[in-house]
Amino acid sequence: KKVVLAYSGGLDTSIILKWLQTEFGCEVVTFTADLGQGEELGPAREKAKLLGIKDENIYIDDLREEFVRDFVFPMFRANALYEGTYLLGTSIARPLITKRLIEIAKETGADAIAHGATGKGNDQVRFELSAYALNPNIRVIAPWREWSFKSREHLLEFAEQHQIPISKDKRGEAPFSVDANLLHSSSEGKVLEDPWESAPEYVYQRTISPMDAPDTPTEITIGFEAGDPVSLNGEKLSAADMLTALNKYGHDNGIGRIDIVENRFVGMKSRGVYETPGGTILIAAHRAIESITLDRGAAHLKDDLMPKYAELIYNGFWFSPDREMIQALVDKSQEKVTGEVRLTLYKGNVMIAGRQSPYSLYSDQLVTFEDDRGAYDQKDAEGFIRLNALRLRTLAARDKQ
Ligand code: ARG
Ligand code: SIN
Repeated sequence: KKVVLAYSGGLDTSIILKWLQTEFGCEVVTFTADLGQGEELGPAREKAKLLGIKDENIYIDDLREEFVRDFVFPMFRANALYEGTYLLGTSIARPLITKRLIEIAKETGADAIAHGATGKGNDQVRFELSAYALNPNIRVIAPWREWSFKSREHLLEFAEQHQIPISKDKRGEAPFSVDANLLHSSSEGKVLEDPWESAPEYVYQRTISPMDAPDTPTEITIGFEAGDPVSLNGEKLSAADMLTALNKYGHDNGIGRIDIVENRFVGMKSRGVYETPGGTILIAAHRAIESITLDRGAAHLKDDLMPKYAELIYNGFWFSPDREMIQALVDKSQEKVTGEVRLTLYKGNVMIAGRQSPYSLYSDQLVTFEDDRGAYDQKDAEGFIRLNALRLRTLAARDKQ
């Protein structure tokens, strides 16, 4: 029996690795993805080796470009926000990780995959729905739902028994649970569990506080092509380089912090503190370029579908016909979403300063309050209002009696 484990190199997935070996007698293949979480991946390889994984069973892939190009940017074309605020930084990474797990399972002849998500959260659902969508016969092992460890103490005991190195800070309770990639960092649990208590400043890891941000504004220009950002201040950038660069601007200006209570798919509410510095700049810029290039009907239709689309991604249905159908509609809408947006970044704020496009629908001749030289006949508005008012007047007349 062979299983491919989504392995971070951290304590929890190292314990899972050992547990799979001892409990199931499985041959374990480890997969560690570089999604821009900002951690060295060398140590993950060393640790896997130390735990007895053969070199040919250690997979480490840099997925940053694919992540941003094929997952993050398509999602941003829809301006996806879950429950009005969450930019889905964790949600959007899970389908890609799973896609690689399934590919590696095929390559290595493994019949199962394993992940380190708990039985209480969204991530288990996302990993597993993605896995079954890509391979209906895959077996999934979710140790957190299966093993008998009742507490952190027991886990640490098991780690000690099996010579799994435990860093000093992990001896005590980990202060909170973190997930990070190029799009965002999330923190949940422990010190954050009381939703009335402020998040301590040390929770934030990739933005400075807006209170500490520079007193002078920063101006940037983002160029879009067909809905995707392609240049920054006139310089062409790859998808991953673009997000990396925007993250730096966001970091330096205290942009993209949110503190929310969200509804998990499994039914409970959870409090999270998320940082999405580059993504927060990008969504504002994208809306600005759409504002001049999209027809109203097109814009409103995609906005109607956005909450549905965001929920599909949040709930783990990236690989589903409904998500793909909405994606096709969104992508179609983006054909002429091309042009440039100027932004001012200042103490946690992203302010639009200007926008232009060769496909702009904005007409100053139409909108001007000055002489429009016959472009628009104000008298037309009279009939327009009269007919739109017809049913309202009919109602009002009836209800007056
Ligand atoms: N609540 C967020 C979500 O469901 C973040 C999850 C963070 N995951 C983690 N393993 N710490 O997308
Ligand atoms: C987890 O349960 O592993 C993290 C939280 C989540 O997936 O929602």
